[in-house]
Amino acid sequence: MWPDTAIIRLFGTAVPIVQAPMAGEPDRAELTAAVSNAGGLGSAGVAYLQPDAIRERIHAIRALTQRPFGVNLFAPVTSDMSPAKIARARELLAPLRTAYGLDDMPAVTTMPDFEAQLAVVLEEKPAVLSFTFGCPTPEQIRRVRAAGIVAVGSATTVPEAQALEAAGVNAVVAQGTEAGAHRGSFLAPFDDGLIGLMALVPAMVDRMKIPVIAAGGIMDGRGIAAALMLGATGVQLGTAFLVSEESGASASWKNAILELDSDHTRVTPIYSGRPARGIQNTMMEILSPFAEELPGFPAMNSLTRAIRVAAAKGGDPDGQSLWAGQAAPLARAMPAGDLLRILSEETGRRLDEGFRG
Ligand SMILES: Cc1cc2nc3c(=O)[nH]c(=O)nc-3n(C[C@H](O)[C@H](O)[C@H](O)COP(=O)(O)O)c2cc1C
Repeated sequence: MWPDTAIIRLFGTAVPIVQAPMAGEPDRAELTAAVSNAGGLGSAGVAYLQPDAIRERIHAIRALTQRPFGVNLFAPVTSDMSPAKIARARELLAPLRTAYGLDDMPAVTTMPDFEAQLAVVLEEKPAVLSFTFGCPTPEQIRRVRAAGIVAVGSATTVPEAQALEAAGVNAVVAQGTEAGAHRGSFLAPFDDGLIGLMALVPAMVDRMKIPVIAAGGIMDGRGIAAALMLGATGVQLGTAFLVSEESGASASWKNAILELDSDHTRVTPIYSGRPARGIQNTMMEILSPFAEELPGFPAMNSLTRAIRVAAAKGGDPDGQSLWAGQAAPLARAMPAGDLLRILSEETGRRLDEGFRG
């Protein structure tokens, strides 16, 4: 039923379907393991975790599956986190904080040390390590591959994909503009990296020797078959798995996706300081006009965290970052393993049937 794609051979999975890493609440060991156990590649987005917590997460996944799974980190980024911008963000967030009953403004925190995170992954040796937000050094990628781990980069443009290939990754994720959550752009200005998957995948496939994994707006067998027809040899789905039973996304976030009947997603930097796609809500409407005045990632992420957590606890979608891709209205809520099996069947059927006019 399934063609023997380069990604199946590279990852050692039954089908070339990857559950996108989703750093933060959604990714839980149960989600990663459910997808891997059903024959896809489950992923653990551990970018926000300290090295010890990454190790714990990998052990928790290994307790639930013996199949291959992936771990994902953010390449280190630099951004404008000047005191003036931080002060302006505090000022703009004050009314929202009051509305959610929050007192002191939280400190601006930094990301965990990338080299220390990498060291744990190299010791634990998951089947796959993927990166987004940038291109690790060729030396870092060499160490990943020398540990027997498949290295995967994320690109939003052809030059980014070529830079990753030159640095030595085994495969690249083509992130179309449709994709939910953070943009992975790192060479082009973010606006130049907003390319539709239909244009991006064949452009990359034509210029790359390594396999391309398509990501962005893929929710069912139609989307998977289409991506394979464009030349991708694997697909990565985030929003589709975000609403699954094992996902740790809040109930109000899942409901916001499941109730969406047309595209109401926007790309905005207001939640974290880095452009990301999510469902429009009140917080986005209030802060978007001031986007240029806000500090970059991860300063804004720490400054908005308490609001987002309070909103999630209160079941209020208006103060959360409701990350979702443009095809969110196609989301189906069910256990992740069931979704993987359905996606797999739907794709096989589409490929067998071919085009019916
Ligand atoms: C909630 C959420 C969190 C995400 N977190 C990460 C992440 O930590 N690392 C990463 O490489 N990609 C992350 N992504 C992006 C996915 O890798 C992928 O590009 C995207 O989900 C594809 O679009 P789709 O959501 O329409 O399927 C995230 C996506 C979502 C929806």
